Parts: sequence; structure tokens; C-alpha cells
Amino acid sequence: MTRPMPNDQFLQGPYAPLGMECDAPDLIVQGELPDDLAGTYYRNGPDPLHAPRDGDQYHWFDGDGMIHCFNIEGGRISWRNRWVRTRKYELERVAGKKLYGVFGNPMFSDPSVINEEYNTANTNIVDHNGRLLALMEGALAVEMEHKTLATRKTVDFDGQIKGPITAHPKIDAKTGEMVFFGYSAGGPASKMLRYNVADKDGKLIRNEFFDAPYSAMVHDFFVTESHAIFPIFPLTQSIERVMTGGPMMAWEPDKGTHFGVIPRNGTAKDVRWFSTDAKFMFHMMNAWTDGSKLHADVTGSNATQFAPKTDGTMADASDGIAPTFRRWTVDLSDNTNSIKEALFDDFACEFPRTDDRLATYAYRHGYAVGSPSNRLGGFTHVVHYDTHNGNRRRTWTPGEGYLLGEAVFAPRVNSRSENDGYLIVLGFNGNTQKSELFILRADDVEAGPVATAMIPARVPMGFHGNFVAA
Ligand SMILES: [Fe+2]
Repeated sequence: MTRPMPNDQFLQGPYAPLGMECDAPDLIVQGELPDDLAGTYYRNGPDPLHAPRDGDQYHWFDGDGMIHCFNIEGGRISWRNRWVRTRKYELERVAGKKLYGVFGNPMFSDPSVINEEYNTANTNIVDHNGRLLALMEGALAVEMEHKTLATRKTVDFDGQIKGPITAHPKIDAKTGEMVFFGYSAGGPASKMLRYNVADKDGKLIRNEFFDAPYSAMVHDFFVTESHAIFPIFPLTQSIERVMTGGPMMAWEPDKGTHFGVIPRNGTAKDVRWFSTDAKFMFHMMNAWTDGSKLHADVTGSNATQFAPKTDGTMADASDGIAPTFRRWTVDLSDNTNSIKEALFDDFACEFPRTDDRLATYAYRHGYAVGSPSNRLGGFTHVVHYDTHNGNRRRTWTPGEGYLLGEAVFAPRVNSRSENDGYLIVLGFNGNTQKSELFILRADDVEAGPVATAMIPARVPMGFHGNFVAA
């Protein structure tokens, strides 16, 4: 017998865990499934199996990772979902209850798991040249089987990587390399960063360590054709703060923003730092090299409410908390070591994506989900930005009662040009309490879906996914 889930916003409505594994071989489709779309859309998100332990408090980012996959081929679309069977999941499944404190907090963990890895594998699912990796930023990657979603093994690159790796690696579509990193690489809340590159065969070819100016949460980073850039925003981490009764994370804008820039083929001694005042982002759209300049297009803000300030108050709207489409640039020929910002739009949006065939290279078309009412976390509109046309914004919304997840680009079969394909977007329909999978033409978002697959259950709001072409 397992205990009821507690009363928490992220365990209810569109976020409520599904709590089961399903196979639906042939979903009902409204409209016409395009015959030039073939492959599988994978999406990861939290689906907690058990209620938190006594005295502990649930957090959306702590739920057990569950992969949903939608295979589109031959005029059919199927749905399958499976938990990522991490060591944590298996131990708790056997115990019939949660053994780990939220975020692995040892204060709330069962003594039996104090020396076990805490891995929820709940944030992203990425294919790197035939290896399907479930990722979270606090632990190693977990390899999954493409068709069955069976869990294979934890990936530690032949024992060469011990600590966490980002949930947002970048895959260079031309070289096939996967560029990634880990933060807190010297232990919990340390300021050490680890920079890694795996070649197209998954072999680790770079493993460099260096310190950031301070310890921060580093959710995403930038990779261009020539450089990797580590953005350090003042969302700080501190064990000392915890020991004195404060929160692990805090928003400390006075510490400013710092970008550590390393040549893709460089070493720790090549890192150069650029700075500006307080900024924040969870996600970038794309980054590229332009002569001596490195650009990163992001959904960024000037502050975050993700954690309180050190005085316990929260940043508010006047601090600029809404993420909007903007560009951050560093110039390697500029000896001021500053970061420049260009603001593109005031429409609040998140989950920025692009046509990943151009990941790490100059691009034109960007996609996101957003909301005109700035309701963070409650996105209602699919957004398309054309960066070669004054950052023209085009949007589509399914209407009242829907919430949308990340919009992922899927290239058309035999497509050779950017933006030539579809956007795949999971939507939760509050009227039916079930989810729908929208397929839109990327070059005509405003027209709405060409096909909508009706899912006979709720796919809880989740995080990130990717399309793997057939
Ligand atoms: Fe993310």
C-alpha cells in the first residue's frame, strides 16, 4: 500500500502524476498525419511514484523521470511511456515507498540510501548518434532503448566521469560531437565546473575542470562552432547558508553575471571571463560564432523567483523576472571583457528551440512557447521567431483551457533547408483532463495543427524532449 500524495500544486491538475506505464498502438488523429514526417518524439518529465517522506516537501523537479514516446510512421502514431529505471527508482519500487529525501537531501533520506546515487533522470531525453540518454543535471546520464524504452545502464564514459552532467548537452550536427558539462563538479555546491566533449562515437575526448567566480545553479550553456560558454547567473548555492538555517539556493544579484569562454578544443587554462550585471535564464535557443563575436539567443530575464534573495524576499515583476527573447554577445577582440545585450521582444516565453540541424551554427528560425499574460509555467501559445525578419513573432494557441509544453522541431523527410518541417507540441486539455499532441507546419505556425493526436490519458506537464528521425 502506498500513501496518498500530499497537497501540492505540482501534484495536481495538469501536473498530477500518471502513475502507470501504457502502450497505445494507434492513436485517433484529427486532421491528416503528414506522410513526410517519420520518426519518434521523446519527452521526459517528472512522474513521482511515491509521496515524499515524513516532514519533507515535494518539488516538481524531484519526481521520477518518465519518458513518453510518440512514434510517427506510415500514417499512424503510437504512444508508449515508461519510467526511467534508475537505481533510485528500483530501490524505492522494491521498498514500496520513497527512500530518498527530496533532491536527495540526506536529512530526510533512509539510512539505507545515504551512499547511493540520487538520480531522477527526469529532465531531458537526447539521442547522441544512436544512444538515447535520459538526463538530469545532478547525476550521470541513463541510457534507454529506443523502441521499448527499457532502461539499459548508467553512462559514465568508461568510468571517466564520476559527477553530474547537464541535462542540456549540445550536439554539433556537422561533427557529431556532444559537448556537455557538469556543475558542482567538485562536490555539492562547489564552484567547480567540468567541461566535456564526446566524439561522434560517444568516446570522451575532453575532460577539463575549472572554477567559476562563485557556486551557482547552471542549467544550460552555450556552444558555438568554435567555443563553449558557461553562463554563471547569481542564483547561488551555499552549504554554509544551509548550515545556518538558510536556503541552499538564493538570488544574489549583486554578484553579477559572468560568462566563462573556452575554445571547443581548449583546456582549463584557456578560460576567459566576461561580465555584466545580474541576468538569468533557464534556456538558450542557439549560439554561434560570428568573426570575433560569440552570440547566444536566449529566453532571458534580469532576475528570477526560483529562489529567495538572502533577506528572504522574492524578486518581483519590477526586477524583470519575465523571460523574453534576447541576444547576449561577447567579443573576443574587446578588452573590456563585457557582455552586451540586445532585447528583441517583450512577449514572455520559454523552452526556446531551433532546427537542431543548425545547433551551434548561425540560424534563422527559433521556436518557443509563451503567454501574453506572462503566466510563467502556464504557456498557452506556440511562438515562431524569424531572426532575419526583424524577429517577427508568429503565434498559435489552441484556446481556453489548454497548457502547452515545449515545441520541438521535426524535419520533413528528405528536407535540406532550415525550418522545413513540423513543430510537435504536447498540450494538456483542461476540459477533458487529457493530453493532445499537436503537429504544426513550422513555416506556418499561425495556421494551427495539420494533425492532432488524441491521447487517451493525461501526459503530465514535463520538461524537454527531442525528435529522432526514422
Ligand atoms: Fe531545461
